[in-house]
Amino acid sequence: MTSTSTSLDDRLAMARKMLVDVSQEQVLACWDTLTDEQRESLLDQIQSIDWAETARLVQTHVLQKPQFALPKTIEPAEWYPRIPSKSQQDLYKQARKAGEKLLREGKVAAFTVAGGQGTRLGWDGPKGAYPATAIRKHPLFCCTAEFIRKAQQKYETTIPWYIMTSPINDAATHAFFEEHGNFGLRPDNIMIFPQEMMPAFDNTTGKALLDAPDQLAMAPNGHGGSLKALYTSGAITDMQTRGIEQISYVQIDNPLVKVIDPLFIGLHATEGCQMSSKALAKAYASEKVGVFCQMDGKLGVIEYTNLPDELAEQVDADGELVFKAGSIAIHLLEVNFVEQINTQAGGFALPYNRADKKMSYWDVASSSRIEPTQANAVKLETFVFDALSLCEKSIVLETDRIEEFAPIKNADEPGAVDCPATSIQGQTERAARWLGAHKVDIPRNEAGQVDAVIEISSMTAIDPEDLSDVDLPPQIDAGTEVLI
Ligand code: UTP
Repeated sequence: MTSTSTSLDDRLAMARKMLVDVSQEQVLACWDTLTDEQRESLLDQIQSIDWAETARLVQTHVLQKPQFALPKTIEPAEWYPRIPSKSQQDLYKQARKAGEKLLREGKVAAFTVAGGQGTRLGWDGPKGAYPATAIRKHPLFCCTAEFIRKAQQKYETTIPWYIMTSPINDAATHAFFEEHGNFGLRPDNIMIFPQEMMPAFDNTTGKALLDAPDQLAMAPNGHGGSLKALYTSGAITDMQTRGIEQISYVQIDNPLVKVIDPLFIGLHATEGCQMSSKALAKAYASEKVGVFCQMDGKLGVIEYTNLPDELAEQVDADGELVFKAGSIAIHLLEVNFVEQINTQAGGFALPYNRADKKMSYWDVASSSRIEPTQANAVKLETFVFDALSLCEKSIVLETDRIEEFAPIKNADEPGAVDCPATSIQGQTERAARWLGAHKVDIPRNEAGQVDAVIEISSMTAIDPEDLSDVDLPPQIDAGTEVLI
């Protein structure tokens, strides 16, 4: 017996013992069919997993649905309204100035979380490569890149861009950026790094799934994983070297997001917040978005599934929802805060949540890959907004659906929401609003929808006032496609 095979045997014995202890030894079921190289890589993967924690999570999150413990008191979160009251106008003006100053001083970075798998959209590859814009069909990564380029011009600054991928889409994301010449941004101002993964489990047996005979099925650990990945990747150190103080956190799937918003930055920074958030007024009580609340006096987000119906439906004297501040995953994070939570004694951990997903897997019995038609797997994910509980100070700023929210989550199909078709409608609607503000006549159908497709490139305008210098048509003709 060679020394390599002895060490492989030893490693196997150790791994088997660890797995038997947590009833997950089925992940070694194909061992006899594997080459030594495949065996080594499977053992490496097994060793990289915290099986004790995993066993606990299987009990609490896979074999049963975790119970959400309602806080003793739940009150609606206060927010800064989209349109300031008279008494707030000066504050907003000063905050916008402060935000612009931080930008001009090069103290703000953009951060996109793009590690998700886009299962609902069914797009093969990084979601950021999805052709999203209304006319040019530019990919989502390009939307963010153009916004950053325009903001750099406008504020005469550098805005480094950090992008979190996952081990599943990291190589494809690097290749996509290279293929597109980094979308006109300097490569030394872009940093792409992967987040961590967690095993995925069969949703009835709690057994870890295989992706191949020599590989566990793994899934990204949720956007909450970004707070650790920012630190472990060296991104925080890189930011500190550059003098960055604030991180503008956005998701990849919303082409309308204001990647950089001076008002939001200014309010957050002048209030001395560690993490702040934007919110949308919920359109209706059962809308599937988490809601900002004060829970036992602390700001946080309650998932829509956990908010009791009587609270979700509660209205005030004007008939407005009381719990209305819907979370849309736009945040600001202080660089020092992200460093602190990663370096505090005992580390930090965000709670895991259960996500039921369709996930293809390797079936040992039939020696074949199975493509399930319905949710078969549980992924374990952390949510970035749970870090709000670690903050001393945090604000919420209201934003507007037309201005800033046209996400691409689902595939197009009749009646679908948050899909490419509704996103294009949303992009057109915002473009029409901006053009209308500059006295361009907009054609509308009987339902009041814009009767044209309009795209305003972020290279042209990231704010309606940027259109002041642009030669605009007096009107948009019905049924046309117009790129500004
Ligand atoms: P979603 O929760 O919408 O998930 O992510 P998703 O993975 O894109 O799509 P589905 O649920 O599989 O259909 C919201 C944002 O968080 C990022 C996504 O890339 C997206 O920008 N995300 C999500 C991560 O970066 N990592 C994760 O583990 C999960």
